[in-house]
Amino acid sequence: MTARTGVSLATDRPEPDALGRVEPGGGPPPVVISAAGLVKRFGQTEALRGIDFSLARGEIVAVMGPSGSGKSTLLHCMAGILAPDAGTVTFEGRQIERLSEGERTRLRRTAFGFVFQFGQLVPELSALENVALPLLLNNVKRSVAEAAAAVWFPRLSLEGMERRRPGDMSGGQAQRVAVARALVTEPAVVFADEPTGSLDTIAGEQVMELLTAAAAEQNTSVLLVTHEARVAAYAQREIVVRDGRVSGAAR
Ligand SMILES: Nc1ncnc2c1ncn2[C@@H]1O[C@H](COP(=O)(O)OP(=O)(O)OP(=O)(O)O)[C@@H](O)[C@H]1O
Ligand SMILES: [Mg+2]
Repeated sequence: MTARTGVSLATDRPEPDALGRVEPGGGPPPVVISAAGLVKRFGQTEALRGIDFSLARGEIVAVMGPSGSGKSTLLHCMAGILAPDAGTVTFEGRQIERLSEGERTRLRRTAFGFVFQFGQLVPELSALENVALPLLLNNVKRSVAEAAAAVWFPRLSLEGMERRRPGDMSGGQAQRVAVARALVTEPAVVFADEPTGSLDTIAGEQVMELLTAAAAEQNTSVLLVTHEARVAAYAQREIVVRDGRVSGAAR
């Protein structure tokens, strides 16, 4: 149990640090998050019909499959945003549906990062403040949070744009800011739902290069939903979801 988060992320692993990180103990990459028998219904629609899936630490997995097959639902259940009707999601040895809502919120803030199709940056905040925001929500001092956020801008190829608002940036620039915001807490897992879906090829490649390089550097795992084969090619492994089931591993 940490004083900052109040969430004990594991019992048989080292204590998480101030940002909820746990160092891997060596050997083969351990499973960081897994789903077992995941079922999710929306009324009569069975969006997930029994999904088993694991993500190893540092692994990047692409989730492909037709529209409406359950990709976003899978991602939301694994991230603890949606509660499954049956089955379990285990993060670092703990079943997230057994956590209280408060503990799940803390987990999302400290251990998970999110990138969506449309960056969902806060329009009133500058690019720098948007990147710093997850740290501020974790009670990191503003000066420290903004200094940590500022480090990202050269890497985003956005030097000098720290004070710009998202509405005054291109879609690709704003999406790179969203990637930095997802990674600034050095989360264990980034959930990315069509992060390049609104971008052209070049801007999409820049986003994917940034996301995959930064994730590799931090040993962050990435669950990447995409329709595009060239985006999935950045992953080490692909799964295909059809009718709420994992229908195959493309590679
Ligand atoms: N909040 C909801 N209420 C009702 N039905 C929903 C809801 N969210 C998803 N669904 C249904 O669940 C099924 C799976 O949806 P989901 O969004 O997971 O698909 P997806 O694979 O992400 O599709 P896309 O590629 O179009 O984003 C679909 O039939 C969808 O209509
Ligand atoms: Mg979707």
